[in-house]
Amino acid sequence: MKFDQTFVFGTATSSYQIEGAHNEGGRTPSIWDMFCDIPGRVYKQHNGDVACNHYYRYEEDIQHIKRLGVDSYRFSISWSRIFPQKGVYNPEGMAFYQNLVNELKKEQIKPAITLYHWDLPMWAHEEGGWVNRESVEWFVDYARVCFQELDVDVDSWITHNEPWCAGFLGYHQGVHAPGHTNLEEALKAIHHILLSHGRAVQLLKKELGSKTPIGITLNLSPVYSKTDSMNDQIARNNADGYSNRWFLDPVFKGAYPVDMMNLFAKYVHSYDFIQQGDLSIIATECDFLGINFYSRAFVEFNAANDFMYRGAHSDYQKTGMDWDISPLEFKDLIRRIRQDYTDLPIYITENGAAFDDQLENGRVHDHERVDYIEQHLQAVSDLNEEGMNVQGYFLWSLMDNFEWSFGYDKRFGILYVDFNSQERIWKDSAYRYAEIIQQRSLLS
Ligand code: NOJ
Repeated sequence: MKFDQTFVFGTATSSYQIEGAHNEGGRTPSIWDMFCDIPGRVYKQHNGDVACNHYYRYEEDIQHIKRLGVDSYRFSISWSRIFPQKGVYNPEGMAFYQNLVNELKKEQIKPAITLYHWDLPMWAHEEGGWVNRESVEWFVDYARVCFQELDVDVDSWITHNEPWCAGFLGYHQGVHAPGHTNLEEALKAIHHILLSHGRAVQLLKKELGSKTPIGITLNLSPVYSKTDSMNDQIARNNADGYSNRWFLDPVFKGAYPVDMMNLFAKYVHSYDFIQQGDLSIIATECDFLGINFYSRAFVEFNAANDFMYRGAHSDYQKTGMDWDISPLEFKDLIRRIRQDYTDLPIYITENGAAFDDQLENGRVHDHERVDYIEQHLQAVSDLNEEGMNVQGYFLWSLMDNFEWSFGYDKRFGILYVDFNSQERIWKDSAYRYAEIIQQRSLLS
């Protein structure tokens, strides 16, 4: 039941969701700034202009991180702070992250940096964004300066966060920036994102000779179907292909799943964008796999849908996002990764929940979130007893922040943020997480 001393407890955030200072320090807009401006795309047209104002409050925020007692803090870099224009490097943008990293080191907190957490610079978008194969080169240039300037002080690098969201939500379902609804574009975008991942891994390890661990973070959802009928099994297979295998297979097996390529084929003029040699770059060996886990998926057959499935009603308890609370399925997922894909160390780079928090007399009694965290940490502990080698857990999120198309309506933080005063208030879950970390055990 104990988490040993090498187990990494952490907490996570991302640049656009917390930084604010959208037009300061030389930063130029990203696709999210643009997307937020389009009426109807984001809840109440909220945006990240100010967010948690972390750009100016990072020192205070690091004090909270320190008080939590976490070993590591995962954050992301805003690409358009580093390259406000194509080919134009902005040292002032880099200085912000250097200061942040220095401050973390001072407090003995290990920085885990994500290079891409969805805020593609508008200059890149204007040239086709991830759909344009040149994006791979733009990303490698960006990764290079980040590695050169920060690698000595960084404990781990994550190339990409959740390419499923960046690709399918952004270019196929249209609910994330840039808001396109074109499957072929999405597949190209994902391919280029994965290719840029492999290239960045090779750059860090081979070209720069760094020993800093590097990996990718995938959001994975184990899929279950309503029944075991043949049709429901098809639904489950296709949902699994779309959500999980389309990413796991290229990264770990160096091939896209053929059944999904066939299923997608009617929307794709040609698969020529997958060039010779690409898949071996994508499958370049990393040092760990990051997994963001929130929920299982539950589906049923639906002939009207191109991929033959739709979400099914489940009677599971839900979070404030209406996501099934499913710690047992989380265990199934990790076992399956071990069986079908890789022995690399696994880090849970995100896990957490939104609930309808109430601030009362300076306290937030978020017992549902406490339960959620405890259940998932228990699962991690169980998995490690089985030898599954989960080496760390990063709670999403340090504080309430801009939850993409839900704006500030959904609160994932363990610190409550009053967005008028920018005050941070510890929720009960923050106190409990600090206690768990201190004891390195779930016993209270
Ligand atoms: C995963 C994403 O990486 C993060 O940005 C988001 O806020 C959480 N999921 C919660 O939806």
